[in-house]
Amino acid sequence: MLCLGIESSCDETALALVRNGVLVDAILSSQADVHAIFGGVVPELASREHYRFLGPLYDQLMSRNGLTAAELDAVAVARGPGLLGSLLVGVAFAKALALASGARFIGVNHLHAHLLAVGLQEPIPWPCLGLLVSGGHTEIYLMESPIRFTRLGQSLDDAAGEAFDKIAKLLGLPYPGGTRLDLLARRGRANPKLFPRPYLDNDNLDFSFSGLKTSVAAYIARDLRVLENVALDDASPMLCDLCASVNLAVVESLCVKVARALDRFSDIRSLVLAGGVAANSLLRTRAAQVMEERAGRLLLPPPHLCTDNGAMIAYAGEVLARHGFGHDLDMATIPKGSAVPDDLRQYGQEPFADFSYRISGSA
Ligand code: KG4
Ligand code: ZN
Repeated sequence: MLCLGIESSCDETALALVRNGVLVDAILSSQADVHAIFGGVVPELASREHYRFLGPLYDQLMSRNGLTAAELDAVAVARGPGLLGSLLVGVAFAKALALASGARFIGVNHLHAHLLAVGLQEPIPWPCLGLLVSGGHTEIYLMESPIRFTRLGQSLDDAAGEAFDKIAKLLGLPYPGGTRLDLLARRGRANPKLFPRPYLDNDNLDFSFSGLKTSVAAYIARDLRVLENVALDDASPMLCDLCASVNLAVVESLCVKVARALDRFSDIRSLVLAGGVAANSLLRTRAAQVMEERAGRLLLPPPHLCTDNGAMIAYAGEVLARHGFGHDLDMATIPKGSAVPDDLRQYGQEPFADFSYRISGSA
């Protein structure tokens, strides 16, 4: 089965082809430069960039693989959650292509796709715990099969990536801040007592990062010297140390809740890190330690599969298509903040009794 995946939920226009679970080719245009001057993603500009690039990128991907639309078995698209205008560009394109080519149309939950993406690299031992950490989401999922996920916890305020980005902005670092902060943190020495580990003194699996941001803002207000030198090449040791302390606070908060979830579900065999923040070097090291202590497998997608990409949409779409799932062309696009409905239809085959599609609570 050949599946085209289209991703346009935020600031990357990305397409990829997956055939029988294997990545054939991928193409991506990042808008990071366009938004960098504003210090964050400007939704209207993002939609316009998707509109400008999607057609030419599709043509390039198909022609360099010698393919025509008629050869596609499935067209998968990120249908949410994300920026509504951006999503609509990808969804409209995918619907038109599916209609014209006769391929199965599948709207993919962007969060589901992030969590499954590592399956492109290696088989996922089920059941699996999934930590999704991106600019918009910080969530823990119990993943029982490729199509059965249950959300166990989430951030009550800022997502981890959002916290990184906002703190980086306070420090005068260029967008996207999380990546820069991670780079500087690697050169610094963390002070574990400098910032709080928020929202750990409870028995749940939720997160909170807004207090950490406030505490960094208060620290900067007390000691403005950290802002003196923000050039990446010659950043001051003081700034690097501060970044290392922030990084440690975020990563430890994440790992405490991951360890707690693993202790609650003793049959879990693996941990998947997904989303842009999964590229964070300290998070990768600390998560490895957590899994080593429990003799479980840590599955780390390569950085290009952590951030938004087309391969994860094509892969998740193909998994769903192989189970007979898809959508009619009246499928709704889901903006951030609304729950993505479990409204996939099964075409042409009996529903599998224990394979009903369910991803609870993803908004
Ligand atoms: O998954 P993603 O590409 O987009 C969505 O939010 O869906 O994640 C982007 C986020 C941004 O907040 C970015 O700062 C963060 O991932 N990020 C990182 C790192 N690389 C990307 N945060 C910390 N350390 C990194 N190495
Ligand atoms: Zn994402």
